[in-house]
Amino acid sequence: MNVTKHLLHATLLLGTACALAGPLEDLMLKGGCVACHATDKKMVGPSYKDIAAKYKGQDVAAKLAEKVRKGSSGVFGTVPMTPTPVTRLNDADLKTVVEAILKL
Ligand code: HEC
Repeated sequence: MNVTKHLLHATLLLGTACALAGPLEDLMLKGGCVACHATDKKMVGPSYKDIAAKYKGQDVAAKLAEKVRKGSSGVFGTVPMTPTPVTRLNDADLKTVVEAILKL
């Protein structure tokens, strides 16, 4: 009986840990970022790690969030990033994603 209870508990804890790693990916999926970005390889857009490296030590989260919102071009190359409408990702979610990218 007790063992079953412990197992159940462990499963619940594991579930919580996965849920913590998940929100960011969920937001990137929802925001459509995954179509052009990956964490450590260049796709249509630069990898998140390249973005983080470029802006290392700079306080640019707000500026970059605005660029993702409105679109960006000419920073990493000639391919432009299309705008992300607020209907796809709201301001709070966008900020969360950009801050997480900059921490990579
Ligand atoms: C249509 C493809 C595409 C989509 C969708 C896209 N990006 Fe981008 N992203 C790019 C490209 C291309 C660049 C490089 C733009 C440049 O050189 O100025 C870029 C640049 C960036 C930058 C750096 C901007 C700068 O000015 O340095 C950030 C941060 C970023 N993307 C985050 C995101 C996030 C977060 C999402 C999802 C909400 C997203 N992108 C969706 C293609 C895309």
